[in-house]
Amino acid sequence: RWSPGNIITDSIARVREQVGRDNVLLGLSGGVDSSVVGALLHRAIGDQLTCVFVDHGLLRQGEGDQVMETFAKHMGVRVIRVDAEERFLTALKGEVDPERKRKIIGRLFVEVFEEEAAKLQGIRWLAQGTIYPDVIESAGARTGKAHVIKSHHNVGGLPEKMNLKLCEPLRELFKDEVRKLGVELGLPREMVYRHPFPGPGLGVRILGEVTKQYADLLRQADAIFLDELRKHDLYDRTSQAFAVFLPVRSVAVMGDGRRYDYVIALRAVETIDFMTARWSRLPYEFLDLVARRICNEVNGISRVTYDISGKPPATIEWE
Ligand code: XMP
Repeated sequence: RWSPGNIITDSIARVREQVGRDNVLLGLSGGVDSSVVGALLHRAIGDQLTCVFVDHGLLRQGEGDQVMETFAKHMGVRVIRVDAEERFLTALKGEVDPERKRKIIGRLFVEVFEEEAAKLQGIRWLAQGTIYPDVIESAGARTGKAHVIKSHHNVGGLPEKMNLKLCEPLRELFKDEVRKLGVELGLPREMVYRHPFPGPGLGVRILGEVTKQYADLLRQADAIFLDELRKHDLYDRTSQAFAVFLPVRSVAVMGDGRRYDYVIALRAVETIDFMTARWSRLPYEFLDLVARRICNEVNGISRVTYDISGKPPATIEWE
């Protein structure tokens, strides 16, 4: 019978048998699946696990620190954090095309990950958070998860000389099972039940060119939106919610003068499969509060809109 406890015992035994005394490498993204793999492998093989966490500077507010806090500090997992913000921003400079932005981010991510991996000695296995739906869904689709390491593996794998074998302990599990496992393994509920976040991160939520200034404004606005959703018990009632940065400016009067600042769009949807989605009917009072807070607290934003487009035709992300 399925129970998180049974699955853990079972998975631990299988991982131990599979990797023996070899060392294993895991790319942590901060997402649910790789986090659960990290917790599981740590429980199974302890110090034989090394994680690499690439911070591309397009994460949500506090996300990088939270990953380090949970894994390195609380659980004692060996995590190498790579601060690659400048590299990513430099590579993205001047690029406005959504698909090309995705490619640049994906390619660079793999590059940085490989560089770190190459510095490590004696790694035999690459662990991945592949779950059952990833296995059955056709490759190349714009699914909820296009893990760069995974897609990289599909196009040829890590450098030939490293010759890594794959360890995918969640391959037979569905998302809800993975979440239960995560909680049972001691991961914070908040991490395990968070909304999906795309690999390219804020890179696809800043329309057009990505700059540090835009990313910082977006991070602040997004944090306010999520904070209020949690406070009002609305977070778990939406499937995905986030702010989008629009690089257009509009006029506002605030306090003593006129402002000419950027625009934030709020997006919140309800969906089962992320293939179609309905915009969340968030209460007007709630939206009012969030819009006020963003305009008051984020210096550089003077207008907030709410996205009332369904999917189809509008995708959940704006790019
Ligand atoms: P769309 O925007 O296509 O999004 O309606 C559907 C779901 O997929 C996520 N998404 C991505 N995830 N890499 C990812 O890992 C991507 O490039 C990507 N694009 C979209 C999106 O957040 C939503 O959950």
